[in-house]
Amino acid sequence: MMSGEGSLKRKLCMSEKVKIELMDDGPLIVSGLQSLEDSTGGEMETRKKIALCRCGASNDKPFCDGSHREVDFKSGVVPAARSSVSCKEGNAVIRLLENGPYEVCGDIELCSGDDSGLSADNPYYLCRCGASENKPFCDGSHKQIGFTDK
Ligand code: FES
Repeated sequence: MMSGEGSLKRKLCMSEKVKIELMDDGPLIVSGLQSLEDSTGGEMETRKKIALCRCGASNDKPFCDGSHREVDFKSGVVPAARSSVSCKEGNAVIRLLENGPYEVCGDIELCSGDDSGLSADNPYYLCRCGASENKPFCDGSHKQIGFTDK
């Protein structure tokens, strides 16, 4: 069953796993993440709950600073619900790929609207430039628009 646009905002994951929630026209809300790595493999500070930019316009990348409102970011309707994936290595980690997407690896639940069957191999790649035609996933558009980490 498909749900309408706007149904994603208040949808909560049911488990206590590390999880990523897709906010309509806004950031990724990540809960319970222990390991956030920059593009050189360095550990970044993380908290119990963080908001990661996916519009590409934040001045505080990789974190959301509210710029998605200024640039009128549209995430589109995501025909998906939750996909639970398990990384072979076990650790739940989100890595920033240089001038590219978030690489998500490990037992991290991806939450959105309904149960129409989003599936994601592990690892999977979430757009953070805002230009993907296949949101929330990266489709390589970051190269065409010249997205940078800065
Ligand atoms: S990060 Fe947006 S298309 Fe790759």
